[in-house]
Formats: sequence, structure tokens, C-alpha cells
Amino acid sequence: MERDPLRAILEEVRDSWGIRSPEDEEWHARRRRSAGEYEWVLKSLNLERSDTLLDIGCGTGLFINDVSEIARRAIGVDISEAILKRARRNLREKKNVSLIRAAAPLLPFCKPIFNKIVIVHAAFGVLLPNPHLWKIYNEEMMDLSVDVIKAAFNLLAPSGTMVVTLAPGTKEMGERVRNELIPDAMKRASITSENASVIIKIKQLESTYFALAEIKKID
Ligand SMILES: C[S@@+](CC[C@H](N)C(=O)[O-])C[C@H]1O[C@@H](n2cnc3c(N)ncnc32)[C@H](O)[C@@H]1O
Repeated sequence: MERDPLRAILEEVRDSWGIRSPEDEEWHARRRRSAGEYEWVLKSLNLERSDTLLDIGCGTGLFINDVSEIARRAIGVDISEAILKRARRNLREKKNVSLIRAAAPLLPFCKPIFNKIVIVHAAFGVLLPNPHLWKIYNEEMMDLSVDVIKAAFNLLAPSGTMVVTLAPGTKEMGERVRNELIPDAMKRASITSENASVIIKIKQLESTYFALAEIKKID
């Protein structure tokens, strides 16, 4: 029987994240937070008390930890059971938080119930393959990226905001991400000026260039 290509890619992604240490992941997340990545996301997200937030690739839950007091409800999904276990420990006291193991774009929701969606530091091949995981990220992963963005946009409520960040590294790559890769991914994900307004920014945080896409869904 032929294997479903999407599931085959996701199995590789899951295995590659599965062997990474949650401690390392948390260390990197803390570094990015102190560099200002979360603050930048929050500025664009404009989180409110009534919001239901979805964090795709939530990692060890640091971002949710920082915002759970602001949002009404926060749901984190991650492909790695080991990383999610750490997130469960970090967030055990938070009554308005749920954590679900899921592999984007196959997400266990079918209605646009989220006012806010984040994909923070989308090193899992969303738009830009991460050299660290180069062995598994290739052209097909760009399609996966588009599928993730599209699935996330479909779950965004009217007037909702989605924020995606990634770290292109250099200024040149950042400009390419802003001018070509993200606009192209938006087009392929059927996110157009008819259904959304999109702002793409790049910024240097410590020594690395980051990119941020702010996508607001039109009613
Ligand atoms: C670089 S970490 C970022 C974690 C977190 N967002 C943060 O800012 O600290 C990327 C996370 O995405 C998860 N991930 C990778 N591919 C995924 C997929 N297809 N669906 C859901 N999660 C995924 C990994 O397990 C990892 O925890």
C-alpha cells in the first residue's frame, strides 16, 4: 500500500523533534524571549481578555505561560510528546490552558474558533527550512509550510489575528523572507487582500535577524 506523503513527512518531523531534549528547547526559547521575540509577537497580537488563543508548535509552553493570564483560554499543540510533557509540567497550574499532541497541518479542530493564533519561531519548516534540520527539510517542506499556514488561517475567527515568526538569520535572508518567501506562501495558502491584511516585518534581535508576519482576517 502506498504511503500518504503528508503523513510520511510528518513522521520524519516528529522523529527529528522527538530526539531533541526538552531542556535544550526550553533554553533556546528563554534566549529568544530575552532577546525580545515574544514581546514583538505580543505587540502585533494585541491579546485581549476575551481571546481564545491557539499556539501551534508551542514547545515547552513558555509563550503560553507568559500570556495565559491575559487570554480567556489558551490551547497549545505540539508534535513532540517529550516536549509536550515538559510543557504540561510548566503549565500544570494554569486552569485555562489545554495542551494537545497534534501535527500541523493535521489539527484536531474544524471551526474558526480562535481569535488569536501564533506560530512562534516556526523552525519546523514553516516558510523557511531550518539548516539545523536540513536533512529532512527540502522543497516539499515548503508545501508543508503553506499547508500549516492555510490550516491555521482556516481556524482563525473573522477579525482574528495570526502571528508567525521565524529567524532567517542574516539581513539578506530576512529581506528574501519578507519580499519573496512569505508573500509567496500567503498566495499559495489562498490568503489574499480579499480575505486578510498582511504585514511582514524584519528586525534584528541580538545578533540574529527575525521575521514576523501579522495576518488579520477580514470579516
Ligand atoms: C523552535 S520550537 C518553538 C517552540 C515555541 N513556539 C517557542 O517559541 O519556544 C518548534 C516547536 O514546533 C514543534 N513542531 C514541529 N513541527 C510541528 C508540527 N508539524 N506540528 C506541531 N508542532 C510541530 C516542535 O516539536 C517544537 O516544539
